[in-house]
Amino acid sequence: MHKDIEEVLITEKQLQKKVEELGRQITHEYQGRTMLLLCVLKGALMFMADLARAIDLPLEMDFMVVSSYGSATESSGVVRIVKDLEEPIEGKHVLLVEDIVDSGLTLHYLLDVLRTRKPASLRVCTLIDKVKEREKVVTPDYMGFQVADRFVVGYGLDYAQRYRNLPYIGVLKPEVYQDALDGPDAPGKER
Ligand code: IMP
Ligand code: MG
Repeated sequence: MHKDIEEVLITEKQLQKKVEELGRQITHEYQGRTMLLLCVLKGALMFMADLARAIDLPLEMDFMVVSSYGSATESSGVVRIVKDLEEPIEGKHVLLVEDIVDSGLTLHYLLDVLRTRKPASLRVCTLIDKVKEREKVVTPDYMGFQVADRFVVGYGLDYAQRYRNLPYIGVLKPEVYQDALDGPDAPGKER
């Protein structure tokens, strides 16, 4: 285990098993359709790469980079599209792939934007759904895991842009946050 990790919440094996299950379910439900997997970078990178290989259907991929304004722990709901999709999504069966739904504000905003572009269908697949009360109700169509309201890292998810390459999902030791807060590059809520 990485020296900064206090606890592993979801193991590599559990991640693999869940991604395969989701892939099977999506393959079944999208039968006969060509889908567009839309990855919200950077957090959903690992999840989407694995999920795509677990889906046995013709599919396209596109990528979007968004950043949410806010403090270190709270997102404001104001989302900036840093890099937009390359292709129009009109008439396509779009599956938005997210890493984690926390406040739900980012997802809510993204869905609003994407709906105006008239996809044939628009669904959401998130790896993690945090269990918490939300201002905006957003219900992902596909969900990998529910976790308690704690800050998690690994498998694409970062803290101050680090730990994305851990093969599992875990919680950091408290002193890691303390060191970062004391340090010169104290974290924001980067994606
Ligand atoms: P929301 O708008 O509050 O739902 O936050 C969405 C984004 O914040 C996610 O897509 C992540 O990039 C980031 N985020 C939220 N919670 C966590 C976490 O526990 N670990 C790492 N990133 C997180
Ligand atoms: Mg992030």
